[in-house]
Amino acid sequence: MILATLSQLFGDAFEKLGLDREAGIVTESDRPDLAQFQCNGALSAAKAAGRNPRELAQDVIDAVGETTMLEPLTIAGPGFININLTDQALADQLNEVDERFNASTAEPRAVLVDFGGPNVAKAMHVGHLRSTIIGDSMQRMMRFAGHDVLTDIHVGDWGTQMGQLIIEVERRMPELVYFDDAYSGEYPEESPVTLDDLQEMYPAVAARCKEDAEEAERARQATLELQQGRPGYRALWNHFAKVSQVSQGRDFEELGVTFDLWHGESTVHDRVGPLIEGLISAGVASDSDGALVVEVAEPGDTKEIPPLILSKSDGAYLYTTTDVATIEARVQELHRDLILYVVDARQALHFEQVFRAARRAGVAPSGVELEHVGFGTMNDKNGKPFKTREGGILKLKDLIDMVSDAARARLDEAGMAADYEEAERNDIARRVGLAALKYGDLSNHRMSNYVFDLDRFTSFEGKTGPYLLYGAVRMTSILRKAGEQGFEPGRIVPPIDEADRNLMLQILRFPNVFDRAISQRAPNHLAEYAFELVATYSRFYESHHILSEADEHLRQSWLRLVAMSLALITLLLDLLGIQIPERM
Ligand code: ARG
Repeated sequence: MILATLSQLFGDAFEKLGLDREAGIVTESDRPDLAQFQCNGALSAAKAAGRNPRELAQDVIDAVGETTMLEPLTIAGPGFININLTDQALADQLNEVDERFNASTAEPRAVLVDFGGPNVAKAMHVGHLRSTIIGDSMQRMMRFAGHDVLTDIHVGDWGTQMGQLIIEVERRMPELVYFDDAYSGEYPEESPVTLDDLQEMYPAVAARCKEDAEEAERARQATLELQQGRPGYRALWNHFAKVSQVSQGRDFEELGVTFDLWHGESTVHDRVGPLIEGLISAGVASDSDGALVVEVAEPGDTKEIPPLILSKSDGAYLYTTTDVATIEARVQELHRDLILYVVDARQALHFEQVFRAARRAGVAPSGVELEHVGFGTMNDKNGKPFKTREGGILKLKDLIDMVSDAARARLDEAGMAADYEEAERNDIARRVGLAALKYGDLSNHRMSNYVFDLDRFTSFEGKTGPYLLYGAVRMTSILRKAGEQGFEPGRIVPPIDEADRNLMLQILRFPNVFDRAISQRAPNHLAEYAFELVATYSRFYESHHILSEADEHLRQSWLRLVAMSLALITLLLDLLGIQIPERM
């Protein structure tokens, strides 16, 4: 990778002068109009050595000496060294780019990405949508880096809402066998409720429990009995889980997202008892007003970190309890050593408590890293969390339909895909819509809140998913035309102008951008880069008549650049979970 090569060269020069080779680090230039790369190390090295930085920079330049790789080096400002590759060196670099665009492979780790996280019988909200989009990109980046990756949706299926649904079904259909204590036969295979039923029941019963203490008590009791294994409740709960999974699975599939594991909070239920007993005997868990808690505050804390509650006075388990037990399962059964939780930033305290408790409990030994990858909210134009229906919650299906319809309207308006078959047009509209939605999200830093702006997201102009797809499709189309004329891509020759040079430099940036994106868990760096790549490509494309170029070597070189740009944008969009249509 180019920055590594240059840093090596400058590191050697600093070392030759008896200085710290770390000072030789070369970065992309802050002023691309003045130079391609820069090295700022002379400033700090001069300070440490009590020397004049410009003089020291000159010594470094002399120590680098003449090389065919670089244009003459110059000093800028107080002692920055400006670096430009020779055009020949630039072409050589491009000819050496491999199929990973020179990204290095990481020391493989056993990673688990926990994302999606819908709750049984509850409709998904924007938090789940963002988790899904960002989490999917994270897992793609992790796989591309060479890690051994598992994804787990971690469905919310064991909390109080389960007890609430049970009492609601009982209130409406008390005659069902699930509520008959004396019943000892097989339970029906057919669910007595659909997901629509559950989604209608849930808000009703949740509201009642809020107002009516007796109802709340009944729901609490039902939750406890469910967790403790009352057969009728377990059977009913199985139906809840299954109908939810079928429908939510379809939603995720529509988004193009799949999971290796479809585990839930309930998956670890059998671990919780023994885990808690171990914690009590180790003195990690203790009684506090009848509840069992783990103290997780630490001496250096700047804010109060309250104790984590393992079980309430009635013995029911909570979200935190199952999360600690899930870490144990992920470490012991799945042998994971890096676990990423792509969950709403508002759950930061929850994860802080869970991670600390897992450490204290020895459930997460020191080689295991636990990390909360938080994110902000997607808002409507009034700054409120986005909802698809008047006052209602977001329904993923509605949202996907909405973006596809908007994309379809945009295609019509631009006269694109006009004479294709209906099925293909629908497929294109769906891909464009999803690209609009995902790119609209991933182009923001995950921690920022952003506004869902359908018009802007679906536009073919500006920093949008559709713009990128269109750019990629145009690359495909010129390669197809070239093929029809018998033209093939060949070796890259030195650039003939700025447009050429800029595209080459842009392509070389990938490894650096990828490192930044993966180490910061921030796909927006890839999103930004994808936009810059397509914009740079467009200027390149507008500046040259590729197919009518008489110089064969130049034409072949340009076609190679088109092919590389296409492969790179395809990779970038794939890392963002976005699919390119064949044509548009
Ligand atoms: N079901 C949770 C919610 O809706 C998200 C689960 C996140 N993952 C986890 N291991 N806690 O908020």
